[in-house]
This record gives sequence, C-alpha cells and structure tokens, in this order.
Amino acid sequence: MIKILGIESSCDETGVAICFDNQLQAHCLYSQIDLHKLYGGVVPELASRDHLRKIIPLIDQCLVQAKIFKSQLDAIAYTAGPGLNGALLVGASVANALGYALNKPVIPVHHLEGHLLSPLLSENKPPFPFLALLVSGGHTQIILVQTIAHYQLLGESLDDAAGEAFDKTAKMLGLPYPGGKHLAELATKGKDCYKLPRPMINSKNLTMSFSGLKTAVMILINNLQQQGVDLEQEKNNIAASIETAIIEVLVKKILLASELTGINNVVIAGGVSANQSLRAKLKSNKNIQLYVAPLEFCTDNGAMIALAGFYRYQQAKFNYSFSVFPRFELINA
Ligand code: KG4
Ligand code: ZN
Repeated sequence: MIKILGIESSCDETGVAICFDNQLQAHCLYSQIDLHKLYGGVVPELASRDHLRKIIPLIDQCLVQAKIFKSQLDAIAYTAGPGLNGALLVGASVANALGYALNKPVIPVHHLEGHLLSPLLSENKPPFPFLALLVSGGHTQIILVQTIAHYQLLGESLDDAAGEAFDKTAKMLGLPYPGGKHLAELATKGKDCYKLPRPMINSKNLTMSFSGLKTAVMILINNLQQQGVDLEQEKNNIAASIETAIIEVLVKKILLASELTGINNVVIAGGVSANQSLRAKLKSNKNIQLYVAPLEFCTDNGAMIALAGFYRYQQAKFNYSFSVFPRFELINA
C-alpha cells in the first residue's frame, strides 16, 4: 500500500492529509479566514507567515491520526501552483525538506488537478471520461477529463471567476470575506426578482464572462438607494438574483458541453461546487449524471492534494525539482 502525505498551502488554507493508495486515511485543515476577514481579502504576507506557523504541527497531528510514522511515508505531494508565491513556497519547502530528510520522492501537484479529482474522494466516484466544471475563487473552466493527467480545456471565463463574482458582489452587500457562502445563505431567503445580466449565456460556445455582474449589481444598489429602498430588507432578494444569474450561466454551459461532447458524467469541483443551489439544479437534470466531492473537500484542502499525489505517483509523473508556479496551466502539467 502506497502512503502519500499531501500538503496544500496555495492561499488561505493550510491543509494536510494522508492517503493509503486512493483511500483517505487522515486529514487536518487550518483556515486563515478569521485572519484575513479584517482586511476584506487575503493578505499574502500574512498568509505565508501563518502557513509557516501551522504546517508542522498539522503534519504531526495528521501522522498521529493516520497511525503511522514519517518514515513509513512513500512520497510527499505538495501544491506547486497556481497560488500565492510566498504561501506556495512554505508548502514546497516543507515537502522538499521532508523528502530530502526521509529520502522519499516529492511530487509537485497542480492545485486545479487536486480540485478536479476531489470527487474521487466520495463513495460515488465518477467514471472516466467525465466533464468537469471547475469553479473556484480564481478559475472557472470546463475541462474534459479523459483519464488521470489527460485534460482538455473546453471553455473558461474570459475575466472574473464565478467565485470571484460571488465574493465581490457579496462585498458590495457588506458581507464578510469570503462572501460566496454568506451570499448563498441570504439567497435561500430571497427571490430572483432583479433580472441581472447573464453574459454569453446564449452563445454556442463554452466561453463565460462574469466581470459585468459587479457593475450591474453596483448600479442596482445605487438605484435602490436613490429610490429610498431599505437595502437591509432587500439584501436577500439581491443575493438570490446574483446567485441565480451566476448559476444559470454555469448550468447552461456545462449542459452545452455535455451536448457537444456526448459525455454525460459531470463533475463539479472547487469552492463554488459547495453551492447547494448549483448542486440541486444539476442533480435534478435528467440528461447528466452528477458527481461531487464531499462538502468539506470542495474548498481548499490537503486531501485532494494527497489523492492527486497518489495518482501521479502511480504514473511516476513527478520529478525532484523544487519549484512553485504562481501562474500554472493545468493542461499538459
Ligand atoms: O476552491 P476554493 O476554496 O479556493 C480557490 O482555489 O480559489 O474556492 C473558494 C471560492 C470563494 O470564492 C468562495 O466564496 C466560494 O469558493 N464559495 C462559494 C460557496 N462556498 C465557497 N460560492 C458560492 N456558494 C458557496 N456555498
Ligand atoms: Zn482551490
């Protein structure tokens, strides 16, 4: 049995996990959200310092949970990018130091590959090939996953990511960082009564665009304020209108991808895949079979890195270079 330690430190979550083959054995996560909340977004320097404080104790804790010693590990996988340079370097340094000390291979993992494969952590695993709607804070992409390490980018957002659209519009509503989850909570109590734009929804390709939503929401809020409407009372409806606009575009595009490729196994991954309304819309669609990661593994975590590390180890697709790539293309990674 192959024992892999996975380390995630690309942004504001320190995640550590251990997989025995493709089975998750232990995982520990420390979220820095409370630290960055004060500033309304991630402060890179604070993120790096906090990863540094937490990473070793988390690894120790995870080894105890998995009931193994460091020396029993077969390899160490870490997120090599994309992400914040300093934050990535913390995970990369610790992984490489451990690998050097234990004389074990070190596997750089693409963060998005981790997200992409995270539904394989569920009981109900997607069969290959499948389509993946990757919706995180930094990326919105539709990817054809032929098999491990064979990925084809079919379409993506030209500008803001879906998670970014959630977070930035949530900020306009005065919600704390990261706003996606909070906005989704308000949306459950509201109605889609303000028709916000759904850019490119009817284009016959898989390209998306979310940056215009910020302007539309800003104009809506200004108009409501000028009309003397109490924003506090309208927040739920505005949130529901924003969420519906984003989700309708995502649903339409992934269904179009299924139509164009003839593949109906669909995976949603990345932080926005935790969104209940997106899950419900796709789950109830009879034309596709939906696969998702367990909720706790939708946002950043070490489990997805350990799992991707295991598959890369199996294929011997790794090298010993010590590198991080703040900007990193998944295709051909
Ligand atoms: O994958 P992730 O943890 O980090 C990146 O790799 O970017 O995704 C974080 C994103 C944030 O934009 C956050 O607001 C969004 O996922 N998010 C949600 C929900 N939970 C997290 N967006 C909508 N609804 C949610 N329930
Ligand atoms: Zn992520």
